Amino acid sequence: MARVASSFDVAVIGAGAAGMMAAAVAGQRGLRVVLIDHAEKLAEKIRISGGGRCNFTNIGTTPANFLSQNPHFCRSALAAYTPRDFIDMVEKHGIRWHEKHRGQLFCDESSEDIIAMLKRECDDGRVAWRMPCSVKDIVRDQEAFLLRTNQGNITARQLVMATGGMAIPQLGATDFALGIARQFGLKVVEPRPALVPLTFDAQAWQPFSALSGVALEVSVKNDGAAGKRKPAGAAVRRQTEFLEDLLFTHRGLSGPAILQISSFWEPGEPIHVDLAPHQDLERDLLAAKPGSRQQLSTVLAGLWPKRLADQWLASVEGQDAGSLRLADVPDKTLRNLAAHIHSWSLVPNGTAGYKKAEVMRGGVDTRALNQKTMEAGTVPGLYFIGEAVDVTGWLGGYNFQWAWASGVACGQALSGA
Ligand code: FDA
Repeated sequence: MARVASSFDVAVIGAGAAGMMAAAVAGQRGLRVVLIDHAEKLAEKIRISGGGRCNFTNIGTTPANFLSQNPHFCRSALAAYTPRDFIDMVEKHGIRWHEKHRGQLFCDESSEDIIAMLKRECDDGRVAWRMPCSVKDIVRDQEAFLLRTNQGNITARQLVMATGGMAIPQLGATDFALGIARQFGLKVVEPRPALVPLTFDAQAWQPFSALSGVALEVSVKNDGAAGKRKPAGAAVRRQTEFLEDLLFTHRGLSGPAILQISSFWEPGEPIHVDLAPHQDLERDLLAAKPGSRQQLSTVLAGLWPKRLADQWLASVEGQDAGSLRLADVPDKTLRNLAAHIHSWSLVPNGTAGYKKAEVMRGGVDTRALNQKTMEAGTVPGLYFIGEAVDVTGWLGGYNFQWAWASGVACGQALSGA
């Protein structure tokens, strides 16, 4: 193979969503850009996203859909590059899309279309590729960053860290960006798995494990500021509520409702689930009671998924509760049953971890970065974008919108020779 150039205006490490976007934008502005990734296969997270159809944005995106210790940081980039801007790019490439629900946009065909689109945009910017390529270390002198890689040394006047978060390490996710941030004296907000199933003590969960596979719409909220413990970081600790589907699993709870609340959950705190958010069970049970010869389990199964009704009565309310005739059940018992179903509070013992998480929350502390450019204030020429930064979106296309927006902000700010 011919010897290729090793000196660039910009080196981008991480050829995922944010890195490809930043490289393409900078390249199309005429900058000499090299894009480096250690993976064998390009953009695996885009590939598997949205069940293979990539929920590439959310048309309702606002800064309120993100968690960060510095909640206003994301405003500027999100305002400068909107979901409509990304849709325009998607349409320019002839990719057909549809809205699934709640503003979530998906490809009609495959997430491969988004990867191919970003690759073509990089090609239009004459971006040079080093992939698979491992960066062993990075040093900086007055002039440039020197990257020692297994494909030789690369120098670049500007360095963009776009290596994402730690979710799904089996796909090559690393904390490389966080290590580089620390190396250059920047702070890191403690990283944790987010958009992740919650787990429970095995013994305490035993009665519910039989419900594995049951799904229903619930409303779920965290303790947040309403909890007993003092808030540590206001943005993460505010009480937030989601109306989404919940899924019982063998080890705990999953489904969109739980993934959403997991990002706000703090260890040791309870979550509060309304298992019948569209009903007033107290009213319905008391209304059905007069003279009713039906068993309580039959009545509850008419209002709720049958498997859940049976198991709930057996394991939560006691062995015989379900077999009582409704007319014989004291009003107080019915009120307590309804209250419990509408406000089921439980304390997870942890999460399913990075292996099952969709994203990492925390990351490079945004207080060290310029919100318009993503450049580190104390290290001119060093940029952090995408999930590596302490900006974490809700479930529903927001994380990709942040990747695109932060990538574009950076790509437009990078300078030529
Ligand atoms: P991204 O992870 O995309 O890219 C990072 C790149 O850096 C990778 O190519 C990796 O190989 C490379 N890298 C890592 N360490 C390196 C190192 N040391 N050296 C060199 N290269 C390195 N979001 C959304 O909005 N809609 C959705 O539908 C989904 N669905 C979804 C499903 C699943 C299963 C997961 C795990 C995640 C999602 N997400 C999502 C989240 C979304 O995928 C994620 O937030 C973005 O891909 C983040 O973009 P980045 O470019 O920051 O990182």
